[in-house]
Amino acid sequence: MASAVKKLLAVLSGEAVKPPPVWMMRQAGRHLPEYLETRSRAKDFLDFCYSPTLATEATLQPIRRYGMDGAILFADILLILDAMGLKVTFEKGEGPLVEQISAPSDLARVSPQKAADRLAPVYETVSRVKAGLPKETTLIGFAGSPWTVSLYAVEGRGKTDKSTAWRWAHGRPDDLAAVMDQISEATAHYLAHQVEAGAEALMLFDSWAEGLPDNIFREVIIAPTKKLVARLREMGITVPIIGFPRGAGVMLPEYVRETGVTAVGLDTAASPVFVNASLPEGLPVQGHLDPLLLIEGGGRLDARVRELLDAYAGRPHIFNLGHGVRPETPIAHVERVLDLIRNG
Ligand code: CP3
Repeated sequence: MASAVKKLLAVLSGEAVKPPPVWMMRQAGRHLPEYLETRSRAKDFLDFCYSPTLATEATLQPIRRYGMDGAILFADILLILDAMGLKVTFEKGEGPLVEQISAPSDLARVSPQKAADRLAPVYETVSRVKAGLPKETTLIGFAGSPWTVSLYAVEGRGKTDKSTAWRWAHGRPDDLAAVMDQISEATAHYLAHQVEAGAEALMLFDSWAEGLPDNIFREVIIAPTKKLVARLREMGITVPIIGFPRGAGVMLPEYVRETGVTAVGLDTAASPVFVNASLPEGLPVQGHLDPLLLIEGGGRLDARVRELLDAYAGRPHIFNLGHGVRPETPIAHVERVLDLIRNG
C-alpha cells in the first residue's frame, strides 16, 4: 500500500513512529545555495511562486539534499490575496507589502471560486512535485489561516505592530468576520484544488496567533479555523489537516479541542511538559526546535534535539522547527539534526 511507507502520514493517522518523520518549515529557502540559484532565474518572488518549473524545483531541492519525510509546496500564504485582487509585492528588506483594505467590500472584486481558479499554476506545481517525489515522501499543501491572511490585508504590510488588525478585532468585529469569511471561502477552494492535484496533507499557518486576549483568540483564531476545517470536510476533503497557531500558549488545548484539526504544529515557545499534560494522548504534534539554536549548533543543539525526541516518544510526533529555517542556517547543522533523529 502506497501510504504504508509514508511515515509522516502514519503519524498523522495517530501512530507513534520511531524514529519520527522530520521536515522543516521554510526548508526550501535562502539557506540553500541551489535555492538562491533558482530564485535568481525568476523576475520576482511572485513570479517564482507562479512558475511551476521553478516552484517544483524549489520544493524538491530540500528533499534531494536532506531526504526530508515531508515536502511542502513552494508557494506563499499571500498568494490568495493576490488572487482576490489585492496588489501583493515582496520588497527586499521590507518583507511583504499588500494593498491595504479599509472595508470587507474591498475583497468583493473577485468571487472565492474565481480567486482559487486564478491559482492554477500552483496546482500545476503540486502535480509536478507529486510526480517527482520519492514514494516515501508526503506532499504537504498549505494556506494561511483566515486571521493571519486578513491581518496582512488590514495592516498592508507584515512589519507593523499589528494594532490595526487588533483594533478591528475589538472595534469592528463584524467587518473583520466578513473579511475572514471571504478569505476563508477562497482558501477552502484553494486547498481543495491542491488536494485534487495531489497534496496528501494540509497545513494552516496562523503565524500571528500570538499574544491575543483569550476572548479575541476564540473569535479570530478558533472560530474561523473551525469553520474552514468544517468547510473543507463538507467539500469532501478527507486529508489530515495540521493547524499551526503560532504563539497560542495556554489556548492550545482549546484550539485542539474546538477546531477539528488532525494535528497541531507547536511553536518555539511550546513546553513539552505543558503539551503532554494538556493535549489528548493520541493527538499528533509537530515541532518545535528553535530555528536560532539550529543556527548556533553544538552541544546544546544536540541536547535539545534529544530532549524533544524523548519528550514526544510516547505520542505521534513529526519532528520540525518551532518556526521557519533562517537564511543564515548552516547546512551542516541541519544534517546534524537529521543524523541525531535517524541514528541517535
Ligand atoms: O519550505 C517552505 O516552507 C516554503 C514555502 C513557504 C514560503 N512561505 C516561501 C517563502 C511557506 C510555507 C510560506 C508561508 C508564509 N509566508 C508564512 C507562514 C509561515 C511563517 O513564516 O510564519 C508567512 C507569514 C508568509 C509571509 C511571508 N512571505 C513573509 C513574512 C516573507 C518575507 C520574510 C523573508 O524571509 O523574507 C515571505 C517571503 C517568502 N516566502 C520567502 C520564502 C522562501 C523568502 C523569499 C526570498 O526568497 O527572498
